[in-house]
Amino acid sequence: MTDGDGRGKYDHARPLREMTPESERFHERARAVTPLGVESNVRAFDPYPFYVDRAEGSYVRDIDDNEYLDFLLALGPIVLGHGHPAVREAVKAQVDRCDLTATPNPVAIEYMETVAEMIPSVEQVRLANSGSEATMHAIRVARSYTGKEKIAKPEGGYAGAHDYALQSVYADEAALGPADRPNTVPYGTGIPDAVTETVVAIPFNDRAGTEAVLREHADELAAVIIEPVMCSAGCLKAREGYHEFLRELTAELGVVLIWDEVMTGFRLGPAGAQGRFGIEPDMTTFAKVAGGGYQLAGFGGPAEIMREIEPPEAEGRESWEASAYHGGTYNGHPVSCAAGLATLEILQERDVYEHIDRLGERLFTGLQEVADDVGVPATVEHVGSLGQVYMTDAEIHRYRDTWASNTDRFADWWREAAAGGALFGNPIQSERFFTTYSHTDEQIDRALEIAEDAFRAVDHPYE
Ligand SMILES: Cc1ncc(COP(=O)(O)O)c(C=O)c1O
Repeated sequence: MTDGDGRGKYDHARPLREMTPESERFHERARAVTPLGVESNVRAFDPYPFYVDRAEGSYVRDIDDNEYLDFLLALGPIVLGHGHPAVREAVKAQVDRCDLTATPNPVAIEYMETVAEMIPSVEQVRLANSGSEATMHAIRVARSYTGKEKIAKPEGGYAGAHDYALQSVYADEAALGPADRPNTVPYGTGIPDAVTETVVAIPFNDRAGTEAVLREHADELAAVIIEPVMCSAGCLKAREGYHEFLRELTAELGVVLIWDEVMTGFRLGPAGAQGRFGIEPDMTTFAKVAGGGYQLAGFGGPAEIMREIEPPEAEGRESWEASAYHGGTYNGHPVSCAAGLATLEILQERDVYEHIDRLGERLFTGLQEVADDVGVPATVEHVGSLGQVYMTDAEIHRYRDTWASNTDRFADWWREAAAGGALFGNPIQSERFFTTYSHTDEQIDRALEIAEDAFRAVDHPYE
């Protein structure tokens, strides 16, 4: 098929479609039982997702028996490669010893001790099963601690799938309003206005705008919840001094600073982004890498704040009236904790960060080079082992800067690369991708060759 100027009209989904007939058939079956044929919305893409059969080390294999070099890495958790032998062994041993009892288990306590050892700002910890649960509970504890109700979050930031966090995640300019004083816009339907009214949006990387919003709402604000690197908009790095400024301002205003380290925790270093950047938040949420591929998340902070969960000696009140509730049947699941503990031990004992950061540097700077060589406008941002390719040559500092990137070209580039055998995250521009401990230099070389071919394939005009 060609368009008016004689150039090909490119169907960049075709190569992937041709190699995944089983997935196409399976997708029909999946769509009958689940919306979009996937278990979580971000897994859906056009024309259909491929379904995975196995994962080992740096690779995943689909049900058509295609192998992909994996940089999606389960959206972040896989830091040691898929099925690391020590993690697998720890899981098997725990499965043989004890499944869920919903009575406390030493492996969960040991796990929490390890978290507290690794992250200096975290004195006490509670566990959850997902990042969403962790942020929801951390916000509640911050409200309880401050006696205030509202929270602030950056526009364009994702802090989980609960109603308080699904505010100003994605929206257009008309809805979001002025860049320095953004409106709060619910993400999707089904979210009560009453919840939206408890959230104020701040403009990430805009000090003056952030300060004006926080000062205006200070009396009502329990917490600012923010990612140290805004991975929910790809890979937005904080401008020099932004986090220091936010640390000082929240302390001055009596607002709990929650660093949402669901993506960065244990990935950017043993103490997460806070160790890397030298900032101490009041509370921290973590997930993903924390479970080494199993469902494990949590939140923590100083005992003074975490004690909000502990019913005090009630003075004329029922104990439930005087504390912030945290609970969950599956919290601290022994199998997940065994996997998490094995992962954290390896992170502390081996040269994991040196390895994934070095390969991250090679991958992401290499991607910039090959995009430049081919002549496709791209800005590649990364911190250590995580980064993203934005399909624009504009500078990317704030959420709204990401609107300059060509999302269609990004999705096409991703599809071409997937067909070539590498998964650079998923085809959504606001996601990001990673390096992992099992990656080798040869695999990075191969990934860059695949990426270059994919850039060549999308080097044509887009509307
Ligand atoms: C920064 C951040 N917070 C919270 C979440 C929610 O975590 P989960 O998907 O485990 O619920 C995510 C998920 O990607 C995230 O990136």
